[in-house]
Amino acid sequence: MLRVKNLSVSYGKIKVLRQVTFHVKPGEIVTLVGSNGSGKSTLLSVLSGLKKELGGEIIFDQRRINGLRPDQIVRLGVVQVPEARQLFNSMTVEENIALGAYIHRKTASKSELKEREERVYELFPVLRERKTQQAGTLSGGEQQMLSIARALMARPRLLLLDEPSLGLAPLVVREIFKIIEEMREAGTTILLVEQNALAALRVSDRGYVLESGKIILSGDSSELLENEEVRRAFLGKEYREKWER
Ligand SMILES: Nc1ncnc2c1ncn2[C@@H]1O[C@H](COP(=O)(O)OP(=O)(O)OP(=O)(O)O)[C@@H](O)[C@H]1O
Ligand SMILES: [Mg+2]
Repeated sequence: MLRVKNLSVSYGKIKVLRQVTFHVKPGEIVTLVGSNGSGKSTLLSVLSGLKKELGGEIIFDQRRINGLRPDQIVRLGVVQVPEARQLFNSMTVEENIALGAYIHRKTASKSELKEREERVYELFPVLRERKTQQAGTLSGGEQQMLSIARALMARPRLLLLDEPSLGLAPLVVREIFKIIEEMREAGTTILLVEQNALAALRVSDRGYVLESGKIILSGDSSELLENEEVRRAFLGKEYREKWER
């Protein structure tokens, strides 16, 4: 579905991604693990057309998408949930959700949009209860859910999730990951960027480890979870101790 070949990106003179090659197959959840500043968000920005690459190729559905505008990429079905949630804080929950389908405002019928909304509220019942609340007054977890809900309104075929669990309490994190699994079951392919490597690798099929802009390791998630390097660098203390005992 997505094939990235030798992607290089820089900010000014500083190279941030070097020859990054990876792929995502239809129906998969693929996790990208990496420490702060390793280039994860940059990679997603390039995939969604917000940042230009220096070299390399991005193929989505057999089609080269480098150089396309962000709105063209969204139309093809590649939709990003940004890291800093970027909601319209003074608008209500339902207004934010409706805006998610903005690119389809001319092509989708009212009833279809309504149906999409209904599906989103089924996935996030808490948002239904808070339809008329201003987005800026939602809790962190609710804002994250709204951000995902809004992205789903664009009917992604490939959803790019940047740190969906950032700053959330463990219980809410669990809920977010449950929703990620539900979205996959509903047919959405997911590329997940996470610092919470343990939770991410547990729900995903495969993973890649990014270090200083390079992919240094890849494999099935179950393999990565048992990999010495991954355990040392990314898995929580508690998990390590359990392992070492
Ligand atoms: N707009 C920018 N201008 C200059 N440098 C940038 C810009 N955005 C990111 N960088 C740099 O590029 C590198 C990779 O940043 P990026 O945000 O992709 O990392 P990340 O893996 O997402 O990190 P985090 O886990 O902290 O979110 C960092 O060194 C960062 O300082
Ligand atoms: Mg980031």
